[in-house]
Amino acid sequence: QAFFKPISSADPPSPTKRHTKISVVGAGNVGMAIAQTILTQDVADELVIVDVDPDKLRGEMLDLQHAAAFLPRTKIMASVDYAVTVGSDLCIVTAGARQNPGESRLNLLQRNVSLFRNIVPPLVKYSPDTILLIVSNPVDVLTYVTWKLSGFPSNRVLGSGTNLDSSRFRFLIADHLDVNAQDVQAYIVGEHGDSSVALWSSISVGGVPVLNFLEKQQIAYEKETLENIHKAVVESAYEVISLKGYTSWAIGYSAANLARSILRDQRKIHPVSVLAKGFYGVEGGDVFLSLPAQLGRGGVLGVANIHLTDEEAQRLRDSANTILEVQAQLNL
Ligand code: NAD
Ligand code: LAC
Repeated sequence: QAFFKPISSADPPSPTKRHTKISVVGAGNVGMAIAQTILTQDVADELVIVDVDPDKLRGEMLDLQHAAAFLPRTKIMASVDYAVTVGSDLCIVTAGARQNPGESRLNLLQRNVSLFRNIVPPLVKYSPDTILLIVSNPVDVLTYVTWKLSGFPSNRVLGSGTNLDSSRFRFLIADHLDVNAQDVQAYIVGEHGDSSVALWSSISVGGVPVLNFLEKQQIAYEKETLENIHKAVVESAYEVISLKGYTSWAIGYSAANLARSILRDQRKIHPVSVLAKGFYGVEGGDVFLSLPAQLGRGGVLGVANIHLTDEEAQRLRDSANTILEVQAQLNL
């Protein structure tokens, strides 16, 4: 017996917007921060969580479902069985080992590659048209691994990359200049990690190029000040991990922000990990690293051609080589 009596015997009207389904693999700190941020942003009609730990999974699912009265309507499901992910528009992978205090992201590679062999094939089997967004670390190499394991075209495989580092960068610049971080346009590109590259030459605040402005006003700035801000970005995650054991809230917002751009076809530019070969002089092999990419319903739609100084371009190529060296140890 339906609670509401239908107003006519006609077929129910077709939904006015496309039904969207997101699956999150890994119900740890990161997976749950992403899941809860997605719920607040009303980007999915269905949200699925998969993990290997059934009790944790059910506990997290119930806890989120109990917030239904305060959130946009979303069907939340969880299972250890990948069949629950069938027909996903977007799959976000957060499963795997995380860094111990002081440990580098690249050090996690072997442990997480083994897990990915059990994660990517079932995702692909149940959602052959999905877009795969990788978050587990080392994110650039694992995005490459996912691309290989999935057999997907490169526009449907991306890593969250330096979308997070760029937010940290914008926060620090905004703090320095006492402005709103949303008015700061600034990119960190390259590896999500120690060899990332800050694109100082293209930073603007409210549309005003910052370095030009400082030069025109004859305001002296030390290259060292700039280097220190970038250093603080690189050290951010190490500091948070040494203090609270893991990072979660910022990556939660970062990934939900990417999910919105993709599923709502926003065509916004985000620094994310994409197949970089052939862009900005990156050669020498198939490597995923972060470049300013346009995202929409088709996944990665293109890479923006922003101006890099010779030094920035060289640092980007060095970052690509760092990742390629790690990738060379893989046996896929
Ligand atoms: P966590 O230990 O809290 O959670 C990991 C989860 O993965 C656990 O719930 C575990 O049961 C699950 N898991 C393990 N093997 C699995 C498998 N085969 N299938 C499904 N689930 C499995 O860790 P966390 O803090 O959530 O971090 C997760 C990953 O995200 C780490 O690799 C971390 O480095 C990375 N991370 C990336 C970014 C980024 O910006 N890219 C930011 C933060 C963390
Ligand atoms: C981050 C993770 C650890 O927060 O990659 O940057």
